[in-house]
Amino acid sequence: MIMEGVEKRIQSLRQQINEHNHKYHVLDAPVIPDAEYDRLFHELAELETRYPEYTTSDSPTQRVGAGPLQQFPEVAHEIPMLSLNNAFGETDMNAFDRRVREKLRKEAIVYTAETKLDGLAISILYENGRLIRAATRGDGNRGENVTANVRTIRTVPIVLLGQDWPPVLEVRGEVFMNREGFERLNWEQELATAKLFANPRNAAAGSLRQLDPTITARRPLRFLAYGIGRASSIPGSQYETLQLLRSFGLPISQETRLVTGISGCMNYYEEIGKRRDHLPYEIDGVVFKVNSITEQNQLGFISRAPRWAIACKFPPREEITRVLDIEVQVGRTGALTPVARLEPVNVGGVTVTNATLHNADEIKRKDIRIGDRVYIRRAGDVIPEVVRVVPGGRVADSKPFEMPDRCPVCHSPARRSPGEVVSRCSGGLVCPAQRIQSILHFTSRKAMNIDGLGEKLVEQLCDRDLIQDVADLYELNAGQLAALDRMGEKSAARVINARDNSKHTSLDRLIYALGIREVGEAAAAILAANFESLESLYLASIEELENVPGIGPVSASRIYEFFHNKENRRIIERLRSAGVYWETESMDAPEVLLPLKGMTFVLTGTLHEMGRDSASSLLRGLGARVVGSVSPVTNFVIAGEAAGSKRDKAESLGIRILDEREFLELLKTPERFATVLDRPITPNNSV
Ligand code: IVH
Repeated sequence: MIMEGVEKRIQSLRQQINEHNHKYHVLDAPVIPDAEYDRLFHELAELETRYPEYTTSDSPTQRVGAGPLQQFPEVAHEIPMLSLNNAFGETDMNAFDRRVREKLRKEAIVYTAETKLDGLAISILYENGRLIRAATRGDGNRGENVTANVRTIRTVPIVLLGQDWPPVLEVRGEVFMNREGFERLNWEQELATAKLFANPRNAAAGSLRQLDPTITARRPLRFLAYGIGRASSIPGSQYETLQLLRSFGLPISQETRLVTGISGCMNYYEEIGKRRDHLPYEIDGVVFKVNSITEQNQLGFISRAPRWAIACKFPPREEITRVLDIEVQVGRTGALTPVARLEPVNVGGVTVTNATLHNADEIKRKDIRIGDRVYIRRAGDVIPEVVRVVPGGRVADSKPFEMPDRCPVCHSPARRSPGEVVSRCSGGLVCPAQRIQSILHFTSRKAMNIDGLGEKLVEQLCDRDLIQDVADLYELNAGQLAALDRMGEKSAARVINARDNSKHTSLDRLIYALGIREVGEAAAAILAANFESLESLYLASIEELENVPGIGPVSASRIYEFFHNKENRRIIERLRSAGVYWETESMDAPEVLLPLKGMTFVLTGTLHEMGRDSASSLLRGLGARVVGSVSPVTNFVIAGEAAGSKRDKAESLGIRILDEREFLELLKTPERFATVLDRPITPNNSV
């Protein structure tokens, strides 16, 4: 290729890749398959390696360009990054709208209505369409230069689309993590036995403030633009500004609307409030901004906030109540967890009576004592926690809490290993609490899924010596159950039926159910996908276990210890003799360990046999990507009962749809998924 041709090709590839990136990451509507995109990307990378004189920092191959930093340099914001005044409902909103109307002498004001994302404010500076600097808000006047990290966020364009951008354009918006990304990150953290993030906001902040951009690049960060800072020209309204930013390839919230007057604002607030838990990301309220920029300028600022905007917050999921007592619970692995018993309090619609205090260090750090008034927080489905003590409300004779040095249930010594934050009961399965918890883990939904065998029943069964371990569950009869408190013949029969149904299970569920320390659902799915049977897990060395992608050294030694314990193996044999059986696979060549690598799956509708959670961890363990929405690059849609629009979309795109039976059948030999993919689709899609 002559040099001019090379340069042209490089430019054309960059432009195509930037456009596909935008379609994939920002519009969520890819138009070419992943393989085709990879081909373009590789061609560009190869040309840039061969002709380094054409490599530029704004090439899509250069997202992760810089090496680790020692610290983030400081950046001064030429236009300060202000905050918003808050409203907490209709009364505050009425007052805000009245002030605006009075000042502008107008009857009805047009506002842009936006969601208030719960992440971190960021400023991104583009000069001549190229990203040149990104900075955190900091104190509003000075922030940190996080350019190398922001460049790694796929939804942030390094080069703006089109040609019509102002030569200087400072975009402001929020960096955040959506719920799916947050869960995936914590799943990976769990596998790596690393610290879990408490919520998406902390995960986003922790990820953005990494000194090594290669770490940030692996974190599922996202960005949505909500305004402009410095710019050589700006449109006449906030709404037009957002549309313009979108035309440059910048992502904006899909929930943005124009509303009129207080009724328009309150309708939007209610509508978004109802959909809040169904949005892909967490929000803590909505934001209203006077739409006209002329009117914004007339209104101006008051101290650190604009008079033309307001954040209308949702009712808090944080409330104040009193700690009645601090009890210590014993978990399945003997971990002692202090729990605060609380005066009942309604937090975001749910009555909370207990909250976790995590461990002794946390209690000490927050100095929480019996009798204290405390803030309680509930986020999504997670266990409520005590955030901090309300200052000034302490009872006179309260004492700091001390962790007991013996297990409160079996009185065996409690020990805290060096480097660990938790104390553990040393009683093992002699400790009734550990026994009960490990049986409950075994019966839980994501493990053997024995419906009806809950805490009260398992406690009675253990107290009356009817069961000692999980294998004993399969020897119980309906008569024994019917004789227990609050049980009748009907409930007993239901439990026995659920217990019998649990006998047919999958290897990943069984491994998870065994309750091996450090082996959660994800690790269990990986082990099941990488070992042909439980027997080969028995035979695996620590080194072999460590070599499995996703299994770290700590988990490897726990797994090894577990399967080399005679008592554990005896229990597994007893389960087998009681009729428990699981699907196993034979996969011996290393290439077939991840037979679904490169394939994208969407699960929809109700899956009765294994449930969507297990199915997706199993698929991921086999190397597949499991995503939430159907697009032309989806390879399979697994449609359970009552599958709706995703199934329809898959049909219209000609994507292979499998029902649950076909899916389970293929899972027995996962290599067959590839063969099915190669075959043309028959009218009923049968395999
Ligand atoms: S506008 C001068 N719009 O809320 C106006 N902020 O308390 C500045 N935020 O630091 C902000 N969503 O991090 C604006 N749609 C939105 C927002 C938003 C979230 C955050 C932002 C800011 C804080 C203001």
